[in-house]
Amino acid sequence: MEDYSTHEHDVLIIGAGGAGLRAAIEASTMGASVGLVTKSLLGKAHTVMAEGGMAAALSNIDERDGWQVHFADTMRGGQYLNNWRMAQIHAQEAPERVKELEAWGAVFDRTKEGKILQRNFGGHAYPRLAHVGDRTGLEMLRTLQDHGVHQGLDDYQECTVTKLFKDGNRVTGAFGYDRESGQFRVFKAGAVIIATGGIGRAFKVTSNSWEGTGDGHALGYEAGAELIDMEFIQFHPTGMVWPPSVKGLLVTEGVRGEGGALKNSEGQRFMYDDIPPLYENQTADTPEEGWRYVTGDREARRPAELLTRDHVARSIVREVKEGRGSPHGGVFLDIAWIKEKIPNAEEHIKRKLPAMYHQFMELAGIDITKEPMEVGPTTHYVMGGIRVDAESQMSSVAGLFAAGEAGAGLHGANRLGGNSLSDLLVFGKRAGEYAASFVNEKGLGELDPEQIIQAQEEALAPFKRQDQATTLNPYQLQFELQDLLQDKVGIIREETSLEEASEEIDKLAEKAEMVAVDGNKQFNPGWHTALDLKHLLTVAKACACSALARKESRGAHSRIDFPDKETGHWAKHTIGLRKDETGKMKVHHNPIPEIPEELQKIIQEQG
Ligand code: FUM
Repeated sequence: MEDYSTHEHDVLIIGAGGAGLRAAIEASTMGASVGLVTKSLLGKAHTVMAEGGMAAALSNIDERDGWQVHFADTMRGGQYLNNWRMAQIHAQEAPERVKELEAWGAVFDRTKEGKILQRNFGGHAYPRLAHVGDRTGLEMLRTLQDHGVHQGLDDYQECTVTKLFKDGNRVTGAFGYDRESGQFRVFKAGAVIIATGGIGRAFKVTSNSWEGTGDGHALGYEAGAELIDMEFIQFHPTGMVWPPSVKGLLVTEGVRGEGGALKNSEGQRFMYDDIPPLYENQTADTPEEGWRYVTGDREARRPAELLTRDHVARSIVREVKEGRGSPHGGVFLDIAWIKEKIPNAEEHIKRKLPAMYHQFMELAGIDITKEPMEVGPTTHYVMGGIRVDAESQMSSVAGLFAAGEAGAGLHGANRLGGNSLSDLLVFGKRAGEYAASFVNEKGLGELDPEQIIQAQEEALAPFKRQDQATTLNPYQLQFELQDLLQDKVGIIREETSLEEASEEIDKLAEKAEMVAVDGNKQFNPGWHTALDLKHLLTVAKACACSALARKESRGAHSRIDFPDKETGHWAKHTIGLRKDETGKMKVHHNPIPEIPEELQKIIQEQG
């Protein structure tokens, strides 16, 4: 056995984005000793890519807003596959969480009266996104970090977790390694919270940074938790398409929230060509009038660019396919045109979208106050993840919690922009609170030395294969996997290519057993990639299996062979995945619990 250091914490949190930090603050406030492990550095998480704001019905701009409208919007956006209780808790608790963040020092943009300013975003009935220009996620992380550090926690930066330890059906800790030194770490913990974010790196074009390899999803699955909704991958409509080195980098929905217009090569605002029948009373549908709809006693007028992300992404794909795309395979996003509508537009754009201004100026040589951007869909977020209890965020494995993008249920078939940051706050807090209570009640579990040996052997396996006759390169397999998912499990899907994808993922998983790396454990990116590959393959298989199983089109899952949204079975079931006794991924269908009458009434009145 190689040397390893041992660390003991009541609550171990894997991932230091918004959910992990918020969970850490709560667990620590409850008196638990907290270990916070991050594969990256503190402050660097996909949370920063939620740029445009956090959704909370503060009603600062439109007093008709309230948790009920937010709840109904979230359910409609998720096409009613959402865990209704999570959607209710989220809508009810988000305002309090945002105000708390403000009290901890977050510097939000303000209304003239000094209230938190809120902006429009897709699928939200009213201006609802509390924001800090286009750097909201960054400000949230900064605030949580400052507060968390004072609360007291031990952080382990640049440390990757490769395995969870268990005692029966209870999680008891985790195994990881320091990326720089290669040194192994064994964590003993009473509860573990997975807050590792998403899986974007399984795809070729993504807004996710190198960390987004689905580690938490895979760790939870391997430990016996159930994955749900993995067919629902959010392709954010607007990522950069040019230059190639930054393809996929996010262009915040905040641009459209500030009035940005999507145009094709013919200069048309093509989003008005196909407005889905969302409301019985929708009428006007021209760029001049906006898209007008009426529900109950509420009338709204919105730009069609602010329809939900799934629909906008598909419309962009349609324009490109039909030959009306931009020179580099996207469409145009024009914010400069607001000059026609507001005075001092250039200054306004630079103030409200400073990061976008610099991003395009520095990376593409485009001045967005004068010229349109070129944009196209980018893999941004996975609605699917570890199935958790709505109140506590605990999975079916005792002591194993999940929050944020790694947990599933809130967003159903499609997430509304801005609901991620509020999700991190609301359910991060709950995960921290319930994890600390769990440890208070149950104490620490026992570590099994055999499991530590096994974890070490698995981690070292790529070095041991150096002398084998046939070895493979981890980067090569990772590229093949990314191409495969992009081509066959992308925005538009169908049976044959999904089947091919599923089979090819199996073959890649076999090949992954032949991956070898040179050198030693000290900073060795090839080794890191070899270990990440296992997680990527697990989440890739989960996406392909779930997409194959769902024989309809709904939200972010679009099948050309099943183009319609079903009203029978698929409207009432989510897809779950578990590892069976033979190690195979087994698909099953989970009935969705009936929505209580009072919430149904809210949906009817507000939705
Ligand atoms: O476009 C954006 O700013 C992203 C926000 C989100 O994913 O919630």
